[in-house]
Amino acid sequence: MVNRETFGSNKIAILAMAGSAIGLGNIWRFPYMVGQNGGAAFIIIYILSCFLLAVPILMSETIIGHRTHQNTFGAMKTLAPGTKWSLLGLLTVISPFIILSYYSVVGGWSIDFLYKSVFEGFKITDGQLQGTSFGSFISSTWGPIICHTIFSLLCVVIVSAGVKSGIEKFNKICMPMLFILIIFILIFSISLPGASAGIDYMLKPDFSKITGPIVASAVGQSFFSLSLGVGTILIYSSYIKSKENILNSGIGTTAFDLIFALLAGFAVMPAVFAAGIEPGAGPGLIFETLPFIFAKMGFGIPWISSVVAIFFFLAVVFAALTSAISMYEAIVAYFVEEKNMSRRKATILVFFGTWFLGLFCSLSFGPLSHLKIMNLSLFDFCDKFTSNFLMTIGGLLFVIFAGWKMKKQEVWEEFTGNGKYKLNCKIFGVFYFILKFIAPIGVGVVFISNFI
Ligand code: PHE
Repeated sequence: MVNRETFGSNKIAILAMAGSAIGLGNIWRFPYMVGQNGGAAFIIIYILSCFLLAVPILMSETIIGHRTHQNTFGAMKTLAPGTKWSLLGLLTVISPFIILSYYSVVGGWSIDFLYKSVFEGFKITDGQLQGTSFGSFISSTWGPIICHTIFSLLCVVIVSAGVKSGIEKFNKICMPMLFILIIFILIFSISLPGASAGIDYMLKPDFSKITGPIVASAVGQSFFSLSLGVGTILIYSSYIKSKENILNSGIGTTAFDLIFALLAGFAVMPAVFAAGIEPGAGPGLIFETLPFIFAKMGFGIPWISSVVAIFFFLAVVFAALTSAISMYEAIVAYFVEEKNMSRRKATILVFFGTWFLGLFCSLSFGPLSHLKIMNLSLFDFCDKFTSNFLMTIGGLLFVIFAGWKMKKQEVWEEFTGNGKYKLNCKIFGVFYFILKFIAPIGVGVVFISNFI
């Protein structure tokens, strides 16, 4: 392979991997899932799942990507030539394709809300929120499609510029801004009168609320949030230089992702409680409830409301873009390296494919809402099918591959940098045990319970 690009340093690799992980999953899904599933107890299960199940999958993908320095399909072909494992390589081209289609639709909604917060503002007249109606917007035909198109085109611009001048540069600018924005909103949110009830909700667990499906949602959310089982972590790891310590990349990514999810939770929940609103509002929470809160609670000063709303939706757009480009890259790298396509051509191909499927996902809220697959709208079907099925099976296969198909020596060489990193050598035994036994059983149980 000639001139394959790499990330400038391990720090930048962590930034990019965290960019993939931190996305709508953290800022849109995590707060509403916490609200729907009982608060602090859900968060505790989520954290446990991150470290016990998600980290082994993440490290498996990192080990495979970093060892081969190839796209997902090429990596499988190199490590297990002539076997059916290359199908896992293909699965990780198909999964990000499906996720991207509906993800770009939600990315589009956030662009619309950013536009509204800049140019129209959210006002309350007679107790009603003006300037937005989430339900009527997403069920309309053209608005969401135009926004979905803009969002997808932004991804094309970034990804076609390449790993270093596109993806790396964009993450370098966006990720620090993202953290600054969310911390700003958090400070606003916790200083609202009545916010403490929301803080308590995030901190005081009530385990009586925990049921099997809630555990399964927490685990599923940790996989989704860390971008697992679909090859995006694998592809980014393949751009990490050989000499780097990949344990740092894996733990760094997990830590950033978790911290950001918690920051987003603490930015949203106190505001929700301060406004006396039901935390279990579901997927509309940040789009419907937050603009209302922002409009209501600018400490009586209108420009404060506007600034907070703009910052918030800017953060949502950044978070969505840094994740979406990682999915683009997983698919684009396959076409470039396996099918000898130019990067630009491959990116445009992925754009058309995901844009087209996305059209149907978008329309499934309105004109196509009667089309059902297994009783779900197309959007919900793509979401459920990928996060409950494709991501879990992908994750399961990655841990089985690293734990059972690869030689222990190979895993050791990657994990410890060939014995160079002393701490990694010390913990290798524990890691390998979790990788070989705990993770496959745990992920397997989750996979089966998703069906039941
Ligand atoms: N982790 C991303 C988020 O939290 C979503 C994602 C899933 C990104 C799979 C890449 C691959 O929004």
